[in-house]
Amino acid sequence: MHSDSSRTGYRFLKETILQDSLPSQSKEPTTRICGVCEPDQVLIPLPTPDAIPLDPVLLWDTLDNRHTIRDYSDDELHKWELSILLHYTQGVREKNGPSHFRTVPSAGALHPFETRIVINRVSGIPPGIYRYLPLDHALVQETCHSGDHLSIAKTCKKPSLVSESAVTFIWTAVPERMIWKFGQRGWRYLFIEAGHICQNLYITATGLHLGICAIGSYNENDIHCILGIDGETEFCIYMASVGKKK
Ligand SMILES: Cc1cc2nc3c(=O)[nH]c(=O)nc-3n(C[C@H](O)[C@H](O)[C@H](O)COP(=O)(O)O)c2cc1C
Repeated sequence: MHSDSSRTGYRFLKETILQDSLPSQSKEPTTRICGVCEPDQVLIPLPTPDAIPLDPVLLWDTLDNRHTIRDYSDDELHKWELSILLHYTQGVREKNGPSHFRTVPSAGALHPFETRIVINRVSGIPPGIYRYLPLDHALVQETCHSGDHLSIAKTCKKPSLVSESAVTFIWTAVPERMIWKFGQRGWRYLFIEAGHICQNLYITATGLHLGICAIGSYNENDIHCILGIDGETEFCIYMASVGKKK
């Protein structure tokens, strides 16, 4: 018998246990796979990651130096810094027919996420909410369905994490992109994979000498309203803010 406080967790573990066979109706959904833009959206290209000369950093030093920073300066992020952060969190490193592989692992290489960013201070890109298109390595500006890009900060327990950041990452999951292949077990993979992405952001931001903070305490219903997503077919799974150190 489980206590009330742990019932939800145990139910989740039980209902997502590994099955002997995968779902029989395994047909890949065709909706909005890996950041497809709407016909009326204008692509904002980002600097090509390969062409950006990065200062060498030692991986071991970077891992040792990784820590959370919650206070940011008023300085802008360079567009190339944003390009690198996006590339090493959701960027495509290899295309192989219909499959593509990214800088983070994903069960079945399905990559069930969308990346939106709230831009406050990035050189050459006006403030607003944007979506990252991994296959194009580009951004498109998104419409806020309620409020504006500043409203995202108010959904967080500590609004300054977002309002004072140069850029805040909002990762949303599209469960259908996992469930068609892995059934209920795919739910576990969504949360595991969000962790991979945010850790890559921590490592990359640390390597670039930027400050970063993972954000888990936000009101998802409010975020869903702002982004215009229903919270079921697509829901906010994790956030993180980044800025220059004070
Ligand atoms: C899943 C998760 C959610 C978090 N949510 C928040 C948050 O909402 N607000 C915040 O200030 N820090 C948040 N953090 C950052 C942690 O507080 C931080 O990682 C912890 O204090 C350890 O510090 P370190 O990252 O410097 O090792 C979160 C971290 C994780 C992994």
